[in-house]
Amino acid sequence: MEMRSNHAKLQVHSLTKHFGDLGVLVDVNLSVENGYFVSVLGPSGCGKTTFLRIVGGLESVDAGEIVIDGHPISGPGRDRSFVFQMDSLLPWRTVWENTVLGLEISGTVSDDKDRAMALLKLVGLSGFERYYPKQLSGGMRQRVNLARALAVNPEVLLMDEPFSALDAQTREVMQTELLRIWENGRKTALFVTHQIDEAVYLSDSVVIFARRPGRVQEIVRIDLPRPRPLSIKRTPHFIEYVDHIWKLIEKDVTAPSNVCG
Ligand SMILES: Nc1ncnc2c1ncn2[C@@H]1O[C@H](COP(=O)(O)OP(=O)(O)O)[C@@H](O)[C@H]1O
Ligand SMILES: [Mg+2]
Repeated sequence: MEMRSNHAKLQVHSLTKHFGDLGVLVDVNLSVENGYFVSVLGPSGCGKTTFLRIVGGLESVDAGEIVIDGHPISGPGRDRSFVFQMDSLLPWRTVWENTVLGLEISGTVSDDKDRAMALLKLVGLSGFERYYPKQLSGGMRQRVNLARALAVNPEVLLMDEPFSALDAQTREVMQTELLRIWENGRKTALFVTHQIDEAVYLSDSVVIFARRPGRVQEIVRIDLPRPRPLSIKRTPHFIEYVDHIWKLIEKDVTAPSNVCG
């Protein structure tokens, strides 16, 4: 069933970004193959969000380029969609109205209505179409965000710590849900997190960012079978990956300059 053609969907070439004197990202290079799930992992302040915003075309660069399907990007586009860290649903819109927001912008709601409904079903929200965000739990709201991001049928799905506001149990459930949803279509995915176990569980490879300046320290390929039940987190192979990555980032995380952000 697994059909993933081996070409680079997303390429990042020599990316450098400063905010004033602060070198946030320096010479970041990355290639993500079509249909792969890649996490960017690193401590707070290492430039993960900045990196993802640049890939999303929301932030300018000092040097380097982002290439999708061979074409350099020059701003935001329908080929990429975002799931943000914070709750980004419009509170005055229902679940359905939030889900089709991107389709309204592109004027394709009637064409894509069936797919949007199938997506709401896929994320487990059939029957909640008329609910408002305030009537939903945090996990449900992030399901709507996921449905909204997928509704435009993007080439690349960008996620910035989408589960960070959830309690630990809901977060684990949402990780398995995300994998289940992702297996259904296998979008190329770039997922930002500072949680090692989340990155290992979800990913085909984990890109470890180091801080000050943000740069790629190492890329760890995660060779675990899919689909992955939550119980895989208790296997020796999984724990070896977590230990290996922890050793790589330990110094960075425990450095006194570390601040929450
Ligand atoms: N718009 C901005 N202006 C100035 N500095 C910023 C801006 N956005 C982020 N930074 C700084 O860039 C660094 C990286 O931030 P960020 O990309 O949010 O890191 P992360 O998501 O890994 O926590 C931090 O030191 C942060 O303070
Ligand atoms: Mg961030």
